[in-house]
Amino acid sequence: VLSKDRRDFFLGWLRNPWCVGVPIASSRGLSDAMAAQLSVGPNEYVLELGPGTGAVTRALLQTGLSPKQLVVIERDKGFLDQLKRSFPGAIILQGDARNLKELLHHHGIKQIAAVVSSLPLLGMPDTMRHAIVNSAFEIIKPSGAFIQYTYGLLSPVPKRHQRSIGIHGRVAKRIWRNFPPARVWRYTVEATVA
Ligand SMILES: C[S@@+](CC[C@H](N)C(=O)[O-])C[C@H]1O[C@@H](n2cnc3c(N)ncnc32)[C@H](O)[C@@H]1O
Repeated sequence: VLSKDRRDFFLGWLRNPWCVGVPIASSRGLSDAMAAQLSVGPNEYVLELGPGTGAVTRALLQTGLSPKQLVVIERDKGFLDQLKRSFPGAIILQGDARNLKELLHHHGIKQIAAVVSSLPLLGMPDTMRHAIVNSAFEIIKPSGAFIQYTYGLLSPVPKRHQRSIGIHGRVAKRIWRNFPPARVWRYTVEATVA
């Protein structure tokens, strides 16, 4: 028997397979690995992009992050009601990740500690993923990070985008017990060499 979350996620994928990416939500292991990458102060915000039914959202809150510090942006309307019910207190916004800066500014948020993204970056047009990562780094604090998982072998933020934005990525964790196996990438601002 499918749990409600699994069914809702699968239905979301049927509604919009390109946008949702895969038919099953991230495993507990992958969600925990994403959350483990966070380092957030008490008055800072974390932005989650593409929460779907909230597998990663749940893991983020289980690290002790207060819902008040968590902003999520989801494009698919179908996921929103459920997210609002499941995560009261979190700031849940409907919109496109490309507009993340405007969406956050509208809520008075000018800086964030980290972005945790499940967006299917590899399936997006090049200009779109560049725009999303670029605007994220306009509001991520200097020591902050953009955390992204992928099922691919290559960096979901291509090297040339990393160079043009001035960031550097590395594989922070490999998760074999996920279908499909995944890698968690962590991007940070490149240290300037003196
Ligand atoms: C692969 S699912 C990840 C869901 C969940 N976080 C997980 O890991 O199981 C990708 C999610 O990103 C959302 N999404 C895709 N493109 C988006 C965009 N441009 N802006 C905001 N959300 C987007 C989809 O609707 C979907 O919920």
